[in-house]
Amino acid sequence: MRKYRKTEHIENFLRSTYVGDALFSDIFLYNDSIPEINYDEIDTSVDFLNKRVKFPLMINAMTGGSNLSEEINRNLANVALEFDLPMAVGSQTIALEDEDSRKSFEIVREIIKDGIVISNLSGFSSVEDAKKAVELLRADAIQIHLNPAQELVQTEGERNFCGILKNVEEIVKKSEVPVIVKEVGFGMSPKTVKKLYDIGVRYVDISGYGGTNFFEIENLRDPNSDISDLFSWGIPTALSLIEAKRLNLKDLCIISAGGLKNSMDIVKSIVAGASMAAISGEVLSYIVRGGYEYTLKYVDGIIEKTKMLMMLSGAKNIAELQKVDYKVTGKLKELLEG
Ligand code: FNR
Repeated sequence: MRKYRKTEHIENFLRSTYVGDALFSDIFLYNDSIPEINYDEIDTSVDFLNKRVKFPLMINAMTGGSNLSEEINRNLANVALEFDLPMAVGSQTIALEDEDSRKSFEIVREIIKDGIVISNLSGFSSVEDAKKAVELLRADAIQIHLNPAQELVQTEGERNFCGILKNVEEIVKKSEVPVIVKEVGFGMSPKTVKKLYDIGVRYVDISGYGGTNFFEIENLRDPNSDISDLFSWGIPTALSLIEAKRLNLKDLCIISAGGLKNSMDIVKSIVAGASMAAISGEVLSYIVRGGYEYTLKYVDGIIEKTKMLMMLSGAKNIAELQKVDYKVTGKLKELLEG
């Protein structure tokens, strides 16, 4: 059942056509005509999960558990290795239940070697399962996903979320590796971020609206139901990010995800308060439709263009980029002021 769901998620992601707006176009950055920076000395490296990585972009959680997933994970891991990008695997519940499916996850650690690999389980998982998931990959961290919107529209999905915060707190308290709590494309409200911070969470991945849309994916999985009226639900990524940052919570690492596709989205994410950016859908689409070599070109282009935008913003490293001024316009401005 789970194995089919994995494949169906990928296939239906690729069939999806709905286009949301993460509102990055409402973030405005200034051009610096006197940057006084040598392009070749621009430093894009950052500290993340106790390691130094070359670039503030990770490949976010997607898959594992089926033959198709194994092939995709192998390709994604090779891309991650090539550019020293952290990579998260998809939910490992299937790997805990079915030994045969483990290889499709383990391959990620085998390929990435000493780089950053991140486990993934749901907010309902037990502390023991979280530990097992981490052990399986010798993971540097574990993502715990919160996906009530997605669960509600799955016929087999969870409908009772009572006690989930307490459960996440247990995992955070007992985990030996950092815990990243993440959404899956509907965004986190400032209230959610604060609640997570108060139980000890120091890494949030806000995965907002504007990219992968699980309402549409689930709708495509089940031709007998029509939930197209729900497709516009969710907090646009740029709004979720800026509101999380404005909480001013000490030592909170915010990962910007949801609808990121290019260097402009990454740069704007960092300027608006993210410590790390993450992409899922767009990189999956490149791998499946364009192949491995084409994906390498895509990521290489992202890195080069990010450096150009850093130079034009007057920032020679990521710490300076985080301090760059920006303005908000349009709908994003209205939402922030409303
Ligand atoms: C996902 N995502 C996801 N997240 C998670 O925590 N566990 C999972 O197993 C999955 N599975 C999954 C499958 C597929 C096919 C996609 C495209 C995505 C959600 C993902 O990590 C991310 O939060 C959202 O997709 C938003 O980012 P993008 O896709 O808009 O860049």
